[in-house]
Amino acid sequence: MNEFIVRARAAAVDADSFLAQIGQGQGVEYLSDILRHALFVSQGHREDVTVSLVLEKSQDFSRVVSVSGDCLGSLDNIHEMAMLEAIAGALREAAKLSKHETCTDSRGISVTAKSFEQRVRESAEAGTVFLLDPDGEDIRSKEVSGELSEAVFVMTDHTPMPKNTFKSMQRQGVRKVSLGPRMLHTAQCVSILLNELDRLRNNPPLLND
Ligand SMILES: C[S@@+](CC[C@H](N)C(=O)[O-])C[C@H]1O[C@@H](n2cnc3c(N)ncnc32)[C@H](O)[C@@H]1O
Repeated sequence: MNEFIVRARAAAVDADSFLAQIGQGQGVEYLSDILRHALFVSQGHREDVTVSLVLEKSQDFSRVVSVSGDCLGSLDNIHEMAMLEAIAGALREAAKLSKHETCTDSRGISVTAKSFEQRVRESAEAGTVFLLDPDGEDIRSKEVSGELSEAVFVMTDHTPMPKNTFKSMQRQGVRKVSLGPRMLHTAQCVSILLNELDRLRNNPPLLND
């Protein structure tokens, strides 16, 4: 199982405000791209991948919207608007959540009222977490490739991560990992990373390679 935690600093947690952001240069459209690249393959979906989008524009708490590949039988459509409406539907049901409370809608999309920092901390306590960054260790290095299979990957959408975020993550054991020298879109990173994982699972490195 792998998880992508994507920080979306400008995305609204209020369902109507979220829908109103579409096409307004706030980048919420990227979120549907991320879901599609992470969860779907040709004629199927990835049951072992979860995407957690952390929407931070809120009057109360951030919302972590989690979609798992194993619940995707219930999504009617995967075009951009359908994905964004599915997120908005889950947010609507999560409007009154108290801090750290979770609700799950009829499609299986769960929403938790929790901060990005708390969500990453919990993952780092439970296992291996990498922050995607072009300046990190190469994804194909021996030091990294052995730890990818159950890892959690942290990214931002189009909005840069605040400068001091990595320092606190580093104290929790989070490491930076790079997919190459070019700054890519988040959804592109997801596809490349999943392809690396597919190849590793198909052809694991020999122990003394
Ligand atoms: C669209 S980029 C963010 C761009 C943003 N404007 C910035 O300057 O930070 C989204 C995410 O993908 C990650 N990313 C992009 N290219 C990458 C690469 N070559 N290797 C690792 N992570 C990458 C970034 O680090 C970031 O978390």
